[in-house]
Amino acid sequence: MAYPVTAGDHHAMARRRLPRFLADYLDGGAGAEQTLAANGAAWAGFAIRQRVLLDVQAVDTATSLLGESCRMPLALAPVGLAGMLARRGEAQAARAARAAGVPFTLSTVGICGLGEVAAAAGVAPWFQLYMLRDRGVVAALLEDAWAAGSRSLVFTVDLPMPGPRHRDVRNGLGLPGAGPKLLRLRQLLARPGWIARVGLGGKPHGFGSLGAHVPGARNLDAFKAWVDAQFDPSVTWADIDWLRARWRGKLVIKGLLDPADAEAAVAAGADGIVVSNHGGRQLDGAAATATRLPALAAAVAGRAEVLVDGGLRSGVDVFRALALGARGVLAGRPWAWALASGGEAAVQALLGTWQRELAVTMALAGVTRVADIGPQHIDRG
Ligand code: FNR
Repeated sequence: MAYPVTAGDHHAMARRRLPRFLADYLDGGAGAEQTLAANGAAWAGFAIRQRVLLDVQAVDTATSLLGESCRMPLALAPVGLAGMLARRGEAQAARAARAAGVPFTLSTVGICGLGEVAAAAGVAPWFQLYMLRDRGVVAALLEDAWAAGSRSLVFTVDLPMPGPRHRDVRNGLGLPGAGPKLLRLRQLLARPGWIARVGLGGKPHGFGSLGAHVPGARNLDAFKAWVDAQFDPSVTWADIDWLRARWRGKLVIKGLLDPADAEAAVAAGADGIVVSNHGGRQLDGAAATATRLPALAAAVAGRAEVLVDGGLRSGVDVFRALALGARGVLAGRPWAWALASGGEAAVQALLGTWQRELAVTMALAGVTRVADIGPQHIDRG
């Protein structure tokens, strides 16, 4: 295969390298995967206005997200179990993000812990939190994140229970009540020798900061069962107060698609929101994020930072997101594909490609500063 350049190239290479069940875990969505498909298609539906003769010598993609300077308006989205895609995967991706000048978000269910990722990258990641039934573990994770230097917490609210991911069930990764009773993660990993290849065999491997607080976490299957049972579907807006009382940093609420929820997030004191349907992995049939973004941005009305994710596959899509009202974007699968295809160097190369695409798109649309990108850059016919 030719040298991978785009997210699609890395996707193709990742599918060749990864064991089938991991490639499917990464690519898959919920249900019939309608929302997954809609996410990507929606961005392409917004045409960008080409403008000329506007002196675009000094194009600058730099901005800030949650008070942090970034070389472009993008952060790496939390992707659970990314350390199964490559050896010390989250640490590799965080280093690549640092080199590209953008933030990395570490999932609650990362393989590498907060300390390892912060030390590897030389900068603390944003930390993504799922609310767990065991609030003592949540409180301990918040302390870990703060101690590691993380100052932005991304609280994901669109997973009160895991969506039905049929690809995972077909591949033997059972969900509670929705698939094979016996969890066979260990056997699946062992079959193609992958567990040794990514360094999860033999020595204690942890399961990140979460694993450190869970007794018996070294057993893959037991840990997965514990995590599956920990998702708390009783969480409400009142729990944001609980969180606020324990987290002094920035708070971002991830997984909103409705303007009423965006309004509630602002009222609850969120510093930012992520317009997201979890990359089509939760409510199948939910709208594409690109089509919901303008309404949520209008509801927030500048009172918090609006980020968006789902189906963004290039710097051109980043431009579209900003034109539709986002301050920045998160990208999930693209960096995970690159990590699987070529590790840290591939993630860094892909981020470089996106930044150049964004810069050229800005130039061809006649805008030199990120802050000036707006609805005027979308073709309304
Ligand atoms: C995710 N996502 C996710 N989100 C989160 O808050 N915590 C997590 O642990 C995970 N884990 C995860 C694993 C995998 C394999 C995927 C693909 C996604 C959702 C992620 O943060 C983001 O919302 C989507 O991935 C965005 O869509 P794209 O960029 O993948 O299309």
